[in-house]
Amino acid sequence: MGGECTADPLGLFHGCWTGGILPDMETEMTHAMNLSKRALGVPASPTLAITARVKELKAAGEDIIGFGAGEPDFGTPEVICDAAVESLRSGQTRYAPTPGTPEAREAIADKLRTENGIECTASDIIINNGAKFTVYLALQAIVNPGDVVLLPTPAWVSYKPMIELAGGVVREIPAGPDSDFKMTADQLEAAIDDDVRAIILNSPSNPCGTMYSPEEVRALAKVLEANPRVAVIADEIYERLVYSDEPYLSMASVPAMAEQTITINGLSKTFAMTGWRIGYACAPGKNGEVIKAMTRLQSQMTSSITSFLMSSIPAALQKATAEVSSMRDTFAKRAELIHGLVTQWPGVSCPRPTGAFYIFPDISCCFGKTSGGGVRIQSAMDFASALLDEAGVAVVPGEGFLGCGVNHVRLSFACSEDDIHAGCQRVREWLDRLT
Ligand SMILES: Cc1ncc(COP(=O)(O)O)c(C=O)c1O
Repeated sequence: MGGECTADPLGLFHGCWTGGILPDMETEMTHAMNLSKRALGVPASPTLAITARVKELKAAGEDIIGFGAGEPDFGTPEVICDAAVESLRSGQTRYAPTPGTPEAREAIADKLRTENGIECTASDIIINNGAKFTVYLALQAIVNPGDVVLLPTPAWVSYKPMIELAGGVVREIPAGPDSDFKMTADQLEAAIDDDVRAIILNSPSNPCGTMYSPEEVRALAKVLEANPRVAVIADEIYERLVYSDEPYLSMASVPAMAEQTITINGLSKTFAMTGWRIGYACAPGKNGEVIKAMTRLQSQMTSSITSFLMSSIPAALQKATAEVSSMRDTFAKRAELIHGLVTQWPGVSCPRPTGAFYIFPDISCCFGKTSGGGVRIQSAMDFASALLDEAGVAVVPGEGFLGCGVNHVRLSFACSEDDIHAGCQRVREWLDRLT
């Protein structure tokens, strides 16, 4: 459905955009002369919008079960907090080196070498304010206006706006539930031409909750290796949260891809540190040109991350193993639980989540029906709005994720098992009342 919102009865996504320029941009521009086209064209993140809306409703005393939030419901492990507090108390409150302290960069390089099999050194690493900003900087560093950036869809909501902010042109590679939302090597090959500069790969995927197997990564690598102009931005932020029997394979660990890949990761999801804003990129080779370019850009934008958080990076990567493993095990149990419950919803299907903390069911069986509250459901947005209004359950409508996302909603299982049981039961009862 291209990009426009079909309906938003709750005003949930007011000011948000699901693809393309804002419908009323022309009007806006003549009246709001001090806003740039760039600012007017950028949507607010719909996932953050729903999280904010749920907080608002809960604060107002509403009984809401939230499946919207893309962040762990755990506290940050104490050993990590202690490291930051100690740095703060010991006076590490001045500007830090732009790409990060040598110790923090080395800790990341060591993690990537030993856990991911990526050949790199500390100088191949830059630390930024969250993985989101790291993806943004990577795109700014390598994309010229008019360059095509391949985007397998459904895809995380922020990729398209970030590609467009870099002047790039998005070319979608659509995949659906039949292939667990994964593109094939043949699809990738068919999408590449001389205009293509980069591809963003996100595995495990937000919003799909599925991941590429090592064999699939190698098949994609073979195509990419034959097209060395195409840089890979591999967003591996959920790489430790996998529930598959298969091991995780990083694209940059395939030897031929080592210098063609910018690996992006961060501490937000694995270590329950979303508010800390710590992300990083690794780009070996080419005399460190990519990292140097990202460092120049960052030096003119944010300077560095917060200086007294640098010491929390080695602490997280080296001392929080038990906590990470326990959080992962909890997510794995929830993945099973929610998949079992969602697939009992009448007419609804979805692949088993194998990574991240999302499940992405196809709810298009509800289109054309009317809810108990009298809302005609014609889109995922209608579904999410009516569900929140009538059943007090928050899910993220799939339009913003592009591709077949228009037929889906995203549920995050970063919430308690009780909430999963109660929320899924409420959805089921609400579905039973559709006519
Ligand atoms: C795929 C993906 N990449 C990056 C991020 C951003 O992570 P950070 O909190 O480190 O900016 C998110 C957060 O939702 C995400 O889902």
